[in-house]
Amino acid sequence: MKTSLAITLGIVFAGQAVIAAEGKIDFAKEIHPILEQQCVKCHGAEKQKGKLRLDNREAALKGGKGGPSLVPGDSAKSEFLRRVMLPKSDDDFMPAEGEPLPKAQLDLLKKWIDEGAVWPVMAAKETAKVPAIPAPVLPADFKPSGAEQKAIAALGQKGIDVRPIAANLNWREANFRLLGTGVTDTVVAPIKDIAGLVDLNLANTKITDAALANLKGLTNLQRLHLELTGVTDAGLANLKTLPNLTYLNLYGTKVTDAGLEHLKGMKFLRNLYVWQSKVTEAGAKNLKAAMPNLEISTGWDLSSLPKKEEPKKEEKKDAKKEEKK
Ligand code: HEC
Repeated sequence: MKTSLAITLGIVFAGQAVIAAEGKIDFAKEIHPILEQQCVKCHGAEKQKGKLRLDNREAALKGGKGGPSLVPGDSAKSEFLRRVMLPKSDDDFMPAEGEPLPKAQLDLLKKWIDEGAVWPVMAAKETAKVPAIPAPVLPADFKPSGAEQKAIAALGQKGIDVRPIAANLNWREANFRLLGTGVTDTVVAPIKDIAGLVDLNLANTKITDAALANLKGLTNLQRLHLELTGVTDAGLANLKTLPNLTYLNLYGTKVTDAGLEHLKGMKFLRNLYVWQSKVTEAGAKNLKAAMPNLEISTGWDLSSLPKKEEPKKEEKKDAKKEEKK
């Protein structure tokens, strides 16, 4: 078995090497991350500077105030490329307020446009699995404040172990689910001082919207379970200040389409669960349009929403290889 896996892997990698040697640009891997990191914050769902969006092909081709920005097959005629090649001192220079792109990226962009600016519709979903902007890196040297240590101790006395996510790290996770219905807003309150909290599970507890007010300052929080709680749209307004959230579970809550509006600024949000909430098909679609990288699990079979794809064979094998390391 082992040998055959090794052989298969060998073939897969050899295959990739050939692609690299031929030098066809891979949009999802090579171009999309550049756009996401350098351009989309001003030319995306939130802002459309110069009336230009660079988060989908159609919009990029249409261009902005000055007309088309991308001319597939002709980088010399592409305003997009002209602007990023300009010296920083030029008024038209892009990314505005940023640093010039490294030469390697400029070369990739040029080649990509000359090859026809291939921009697969699935790109957003592929990168969702390997997020184009990885979740923010947590500094290893985070030190808890005195108030944080007190809060951790207080919760410990109530049976909540706020434990480090890994040895030698002060980033923590807290799971209230285990205490279930004994957990009220008051029990949860000390979390407001635990700035090092990255993973919080409040599922199936008795908390209400009031508990979420304690989350406002927890800007490092990445994963949040609120399923099967009394949380409503009003409570979600408190999450607006959590820019790093990647996972949010609202299954079995009273949240409606209006509540989803509070999530639109969360650029790292990748997984949202709204099964058996009050969210409608239209509401889910509306959010998906604003946040193409977001995977929304509704629990209904929405033929119109892209379904979850089977991971590609190569990816499965890559994953196996990762495990082996
Ligand atoms: C900090 C915000 C910001 C970032 C980041 C940014 N831009 Fe812009 N962009 C602007 C503004 C403001 C304008 C409109 C003013 C102008 O035309 O210079 C603009 C205009 C443009 C236009 C002309 C649109 C038109 O039709 O008038 C292009 C093309 C463009 N940007 C490309 C890019 C590319 C490519 C990137 C990423 C490498 C990028 N921008 C990153 C702010 C930004």
